[in-house]
Amino acid sequence: MTRSFLRCADPSCARESAPAPIAYACPRCGGLLEVAYDFAGAQPEGWPELWRHRLGGASELDRSGVWRFRELLPFLPEGQAPISLGEGSTPLVSAPRAARWAGLAGLEVKHQGVNPSGSFKDLGMTACISHAVSEHARVVACASTGNTSSSMAAYAARAGLPAVLFVPAGAVSSAKLAQAVDFGALVVETGSNFDQALRLLRQVAAELGWYVVNSINPYRIEGQKTAIVELLEQRGWRVPDFVVVPGGNLGNVSAIAKGLLELHRFGLIGKTPRLLVVQADGSNPFFRLWSSGGDILEPMDDPQTRATAIRIGSPANWPKAVRALQWSEGDCASVSDSEIRDAKAALGTDGIGCEPASATTLAGVRQLRNSGTIGEAAEVVAILTGHQLKDVDYILEEHPQRGEGVSLSLDQDPGAASRVLAAWLESRG
Ligand code: F0G
Repeated sequence: MTRSFLRCADPSCARESAPAPIAYACPRCGGLLEVAYDFAGAQPEGWPELWRHRLGGASELDRSGVWRFRELLPFLPEGQAPISLGEGSTPLVSAPRAARWAGLAGLEVKHQGVNPSGSFKDLGMTACISHAVSEHARVVACASTGNTSSSMAAYAARAGLPAVLFVPAGAVSSAKLAQAVDFGALVVETGSNFDQALRLLRQVAAELGWYVVNSINPYRIEGQKTAIVELLEQRGWRVPDFVVVPGGNLGNVSAIAKGLLELHRFGLIGKTPRLLVVQADGSNPFFRLWSSGGDILEPMDDPQTRATAIRIGSPANWPKAVRALQWSEGDCASVSDSEIRDAKAALGTDGIGCEPASATTLAGVRQLRNSGTIGEAAEVVAILTGHQLKDVDYILEEHPQRGEGVSLSLDQDPGAASRVLAAWLESRG
């Protein structure tokens, strides 16, 4: 049986500690933690075949796009079944019109919005709620811009655990809140942004002994790292030149880098894609750090963007994200809300819907294509993190074609209706 333990993710510390109880910071230096394994005796060369064999398998575990790769996350006590909702196994689709819009010959999108609760968070949640059960947690809790909370609420319900979510007051899409309510979670509105909600939650959780499922929880990262494994498997293990993610609390880029690093160490890939993080202009502390070449992230006190999922001024995982970009020779871009809006509409022309935060990827790709960082023939995969229906108010308020005949009200005269509709079709050319 593979031994798992916690380790400080800062290589200059790398202090090791027991896998339980859950901890969110290194007891020596206060740095971020990661789950590490003693993989002695593992035979990774057989894993790709094993994983493929499980595809379409009859067992619930094999049908999960996280636990199908369970050799990479052997942290649960033997015999404990994971808490799963059939997450992962999300589509990788070509987006030819969006590619043209960005100046690329081709583009693929990995749609993580097609997960049980509609976002990539489910990959991490199945892992950390399963871990919470193994620790006999009594309450699970998170601070959230919305998706972590809907995902936590679903998996907590599945596990029979009470869930409490701290959200910034009036700053979370109603669809995401509705999901959490639907699953019976307690919604606590606090502060005006995510960073304030997380600060308060960490204090309350420490006092009450609650299990925190934010991405400071290293088991969340374990689940999320399987996204890149599945993506590479879907590409026949052909590594793209670039993988692009939105940047909020920076857990996703950290998880993808960890997955890549492990695949690389096991010899399952020969090179790594360059990781690109895209932030929104009004909430871009990581972009500022990266582009200034500084050492310490300066938090932004009042982050703003219509892409509310990534309205974060003090991203907890920034040190991991810096290492991810350094290791993969990656880069970071920052895009305006209007670039996000146009990118989202461009994806729409391929029939691909997503929430605004996810569209930052395409907006960033376009910018980095224009600046020459990305070549026209580069193989690029954008990770779309959330479902189109996560934020419908945004679509109705922001879509560039709103008010341009995308909605019509007609009376009951069929002749008049036909004339109006024929004219509409003609105007489209
Ligand atoms: N895209 C979506 C749709 C998100 O919900 C988030 C984060 C991100 C991107 C950014 O990912 O934090 O790993 O860099 N949402 C969190 C939440 C903060 O509470 O739902 P990250």
